[in-house]
Amino acid sequence: MNCLSPSILSADFSKLGAQIEELDEAGAQYVHIDVMDGMFVPSISFGMPIIKSIRDCSDRIFDVHLMIEEPDRYIDDFVKAGADLITVHAESTKHLDRTIEAIKEKGILAGVALNPATPLSAITYILPKVDMVLIMTVNPGFGGQKMIPYTLQKVRDLKKMIDGMGLKTDIEVDGGINLENVGEAMDAGANIIVAGSAVFSGDVTENVCHFLNILNS
Ligand code: DX5
Ligand code: ZN
Repeated sequence: MNCLSPSILSADFSKLGAQIEELDEAGAQYVHIDVMDGMFVPSISFGMPIIKSIRDCSDRIFDVHLMIEEPDRYIDDFVKAGADLITVHAESTKHLDRTIEAIKEKGILAGVALNPATPLSAITYILPKVDMVLIMTVNPGFGGQKMIPYTLQKVRDLKKMIDGMGLKTDIEVDGGINLENVGEAMDAGANIIVAGSAVFSGDVTENVCHFLNILNS
């Protein structure tokens, strides 16, 4: 199934709860929550208290994308805050298998993310253990960047790898996705679509509907 995961990094934080309710009512299936620590990526965003406080606003899947060093330290806290799916970067943890196991032990979904330049070989052996692979289509750290074209080839290669192994792993794309290029990302094999600035600039409901029309076509 194709799903939209609007990234609240581009939301208006002065009315975050209302915006999350709007996403929900418009039909977006996931809420993409970007956690940044100022170390793994240059920027700092928000953490557990914010996630906890917006948990009541929506029953949709809370898709928590951790852009932090050594995420193992905080898995428990993010689960308690309300994460349904936690994605960690392969580049951020010394023991990826242990980190993925720690997420799965909590009974929630586990994802692994790759920066644009990281080869797929980094996840060959962990692939059967994860529910989702997040392919960064920009360098992580900021919303509103332009998609890096070669990353779509990586999505195609990953799709082949998943099919070749007989798996049903979801493929999420994140960064620079808009109404013009989302079709291309889906053709490449992505089925969970993150969009931040393309959802939150202008009319949120209208933007979600435009995305969902493409995702459902
Ligand atoms: C970037 C984040 C993205 C970001 C996407 O590091 O992981 O989720 O919010 O924003 P857009 O869609 O504006 O590129
Ligand atoms: Zn993200």
